[in-house]
Amino acid sequence: MTAVVVARAPAKVNVHLGVGPLREDGFHELHTVYLAVSLFDTVEVGPGDGLALSVAGEGSGVADGPGAVPGDRTNLVWRAAELLAQHAGVPADASLAVTKSIPVAAGLAGGSADAAATLVALDAFWGTRVAREDLLGLAARLGSDVPFSLVGGAALGTGRGEQVSPVLAEGTTHWVLGIAGEGLSTPAVYGELDRMRAAGQLPAVTGAATAEPVLAALRSGSAGELGPALANDLQSPALNLRPGLRRALRAAADAGALAALVSGSGPTVAALAADEEAAVRLAAELAGTGVFRTVRAVAGPVPGARLVA
Ligand code: C5P
Repeated sequence: MTAVVVARAPAKVNVHLGVGPLREDGFHELHTVYLAVSLFDTVEVGPGDGLALSVAGEGSGVADGPGAVPGDRTNLVWRAAELLAQHAGVPADASLAVTKSIPVAAGLAGGSADAAATLVALDAFWGTRVAREDLLGLAARLGSDVPFSLVGGAALGTGRGEQVSPVLAEGTTHWVLGIAGEGLSTPAVYGELDRMRAAGQLPAVTGAATAEPVLAALRSGSAGELGPALANDLQSPALNLRPGLRRALRAAADAGALAALVSGSGPTVAALAADEEAAVRLAAELAGTGVFRTVRAVAGPVPGARLVA
């Protein structure tokens, strides 16, 4: 057995997020297009007697604050380890060290990335060689975004987002991620969407129902085409819960972004740039506005959870 195994997994941006009706199981039917971007969390696993977990890194949140990542069994990483051990019939013995660069509760699927990296790292560490399909099934049980964190690249997500099919993406698109303020709770943002729809403040199902314009733009690799196609049904509810986000979106537009939208349930703003150079300029400009706590230039698509050599 190797002494330690390290895996990493990327953050995601939903370049299209169409939210359908609330289902009986409490989830919403989704039609989303995920893009994995070059901001990674890593998970290092090593020998242990039972499970032990430590979390560190700039994305791990203020210690004991509302955004802090739990270092106990409520963490998705812990649950991923228990689920894999149970599935493979091996004892759940490992020490797990998560190093976070992906901000917590930011709409970037940081927790899902950690869970996906854990599955990949422990599968190698324990030598369990779980079939890819089974690993995807375990991922879906952990969270709606976890299967995509395994797959990476660019993919269409259906069901509650857990059914992923890769889509063609030509070349690379460049983004600046701006994180403004404290994290937002995903269930709260979905709840606000339901409330706004029930109150007639939003149509029952919005124009984000079709992902075709985004898929066509990804196929062509044209950032100019992708900008106007970006759509997120969770943006209005996120803006309602966090009015300051309007200023963040405006700052991105003023700084020359081709387009900007709230990523997933927010509060990250994803600003699209024409190319890498423009993204670096945009990042510098946005960092200087004082609107964002963290600003990162990233690119996508990148692969999903992988062992690090
Ligand atoms: O699957 P995950 O644990 O990430 O979902 C967190 C919460 O987000 C769910 O409990 C639900 O409130 C909301 N959600 C939803 N519809 C989805 C995905 C998530 O309502 N498709």
